[in-house]
Amino acid sequence: MRTLVIVPTYDERESLPVLLDRLDAVAPEVDVLVVDDASPDGTGELAARRAADDDRLHVLHRAGKGGLGAAYVAGFGWGLERGYDVLCEMDADGSHRPEELERLLDRLAGDDVPDLVIGSRWVPGGRVVNWPWHRMLLSRAGNTYVRLALGIGVRDATGGYRAFRADTLRAVDLAAVESHGYCFQVDMTWRVLRGGGTVAEVPITFVERAAGVSKMSRSIVVEALTKVTLWGLRFRWGQLRGLPAPR
Ligand code: GDD
Ligand code: MN
Repeated sequence: MRTLVIVPTYDERESLPVLLDRLDAVAPEVDVLVVDDASPDGTGELAARRAADDDRLHVLHRAGKGGLGAAYVAGFGWGLERGYDVLCEMDADGSHRPEELERLLDRLAGDDVPDLVIGSRWVPGGRVVNWPWHRMLLSRAGNTYVRLALGIGVRDATGGYRAFRADTLRAVDLAAVESHGYCFQVDMTWRVLRGGGTVAEVPITFVERAAGVSKMSRSIVVEALTKVTLWGLRFRWGQLRGLPAPR
């Protein structure tokens, strides 16, 4: 399996080198694509310098901060064009531990593979380390709302540690993805399920960043709440009209 790990970055100068070192140590066989949105702190240049002496590291420079969703859509396009079999998502700040990547990839090996694997904080065995209570609450409440609004069983639909089969992504109309912020994660989960695909969750330990700051904002929460509500209503309306439900 040719595997690409996509890492979106915005002002991650301190965190990114640490992450790349850890990835080199535990997953030397995977390629890495950093998608940088012209970080003012120079993360993009730092990644480019490092990529100059590393065949497995690539950098996609975007013009400005366009949100996590747009960065991943660009990264998926880059990876699909180059024929990767598996495309992963991973935060740059170390919250998604490279040491657990194998757990996600193992789930895509063998028979009966799902279309999407989510590294999950909210299944048995999953954990969050060093999050303040308000982030914990936001994630729990957000995921509960997503499950109820969309009628799905996924416990961590907002989680951003993921492995997609390339075929799964090819079946999704990526150009139609409009989510800017973290609701991109829910958007992709929902698109996979609605398209008849399957989602598996494997437990992870999410460790809050040691350096830099979160890009979570009020507008990201508002976008997620609005979009999920809209998708849910659309889905219920479709149900009333007898359309099939996703699994
Ligand atoms: N290129 C780009 N453009 N990258 C971005 C942008 C953007 O506009 N916004 C955020 N990022 C990158 C960050 O640099 C980091 O690598 C990653 O996206 C996650 O951002 P954080 O700011 O660290 O997110 P978080 O820790 O608050 O949120 C975590 O939880 C969310 C909710 O569960 C992440 O795991 C999210 O993926 C998850 O949805
Ligand atoms: Mn983070």
